[in-house]
Amino acid sequence: MFRSSLRRLPLHSLAKNIRSFSVILPEEPFIYGVSHIKPRIVPEHIPRPHYAGGSPTVIQDVDGKVQLGGDAERSVRAAAKLAKNCQRVCGNSSQALRKPGVTTNEIDAAVHEYILAHKAYPSPLLYSGFPRSICTSINNILAHGISDDRPLEDGDMVCIDVTVYLNGYHGDTAQTFLVGDVDEPGKELAKITNSAVEAGISACGPGRHFNGIGKAIHSLIKATSFSISPHFTGHGIGTVFHRKPWILHDLNDEPEVMVPGHCFTIEPCIIEGKTPTCWIFPDGWTASTEDCARSAQAEHMVLITDAGYEVLTR
Ligand code: MF3
Ligand code: CO
Ligand code: CO
Repeated sequence: MFRSSLRRLPLHSLAKNIRSFSVILPEEPFIYGVSHIKPRIVPEHIPRPHYAGGSPTVIQDVDGKVQLGGDAERSVRAAAKLAKNCQRVCGNSSQALRKPGVTTNEIDAAVHEYILAHKAYPSPLLYSGFPRSICTSINNILAHGISDDRPLEDGDMVCIDVTVYLNGYHGDTAQTFLVGDVDEPGKELAKITNSAVEAGISACGPGRHFNGIGKAIHSLIKATSFSISPHFTGHGIGTVFHRKPWILHDLNDEPEVMVPGHCFTIEPCIIEGKTPTCWIFPDGWTASTEDCARSAQAEHMVLITDAGYEVLTR
């Protein structure tokens, strides 16, 4: 979830060839907005969220809590599991898609078909007008990258963020994949990003403060050469895609306490260097680090239970 924006072009970062990785910049001539991008088709028989023309959401998870022990819990678990299985298609299976030469649009198309085949809707599609079915964010892109025809290059890092809408519930998870040979700092970035989401997860449990998540991630990152993006937060999830509780990934004073039934994401964007500012492409979505340093993101869904917590997207 995006919190604020800085709408100016970082001209000092435009020298592409000074880095060991490819910097992603808007294509010229700049086109404002996304109305030129054609969304993929979803057949009529697949139930869709209200923002895509479906019936109004019946909000079951009042206060960001999913009722435990019944249909609601079963449904949110099923949505999370489907999102996780999409990640397998992208990166962890023998048919993995994240290879040099494959375009993000091809990955988008394959995940789109996989989601439809499981009778679900790709939640990002038409969400506030988003034109693609998943988000693909390469190298200096923090989040909300719009899949296109650029082939993945050897040495790229690509975050694939998949959200599905199944039986009225959203499941949301993201992972950063290494494409071919990534340099050592890039590998280190991917590794620490996974450690950051795990540190946040370890701070969860009934009776614990939401602000413990940001504290845990901060303690991990503060002594390193990396930084935490303040612009993207985790969020409550269930019958609504993004809702309270908002999960801040750095030090914060949020007073709320986790109770059984709370279902939310933890999704830190970790950045190389100590300048975690960002700017938005003319498309209105794609978020880049301001200095075009690389960023990686990992996202999991956590359900607070009576006994502790469960990660629904593992
Ligand atoms: N999946 C993203 C998240 O983790 C949100 C994507 S919304 C979109 O919250 F519109 F950008 F696709
Ligand atoms: Co996501
Ligand atoms: Co999310």
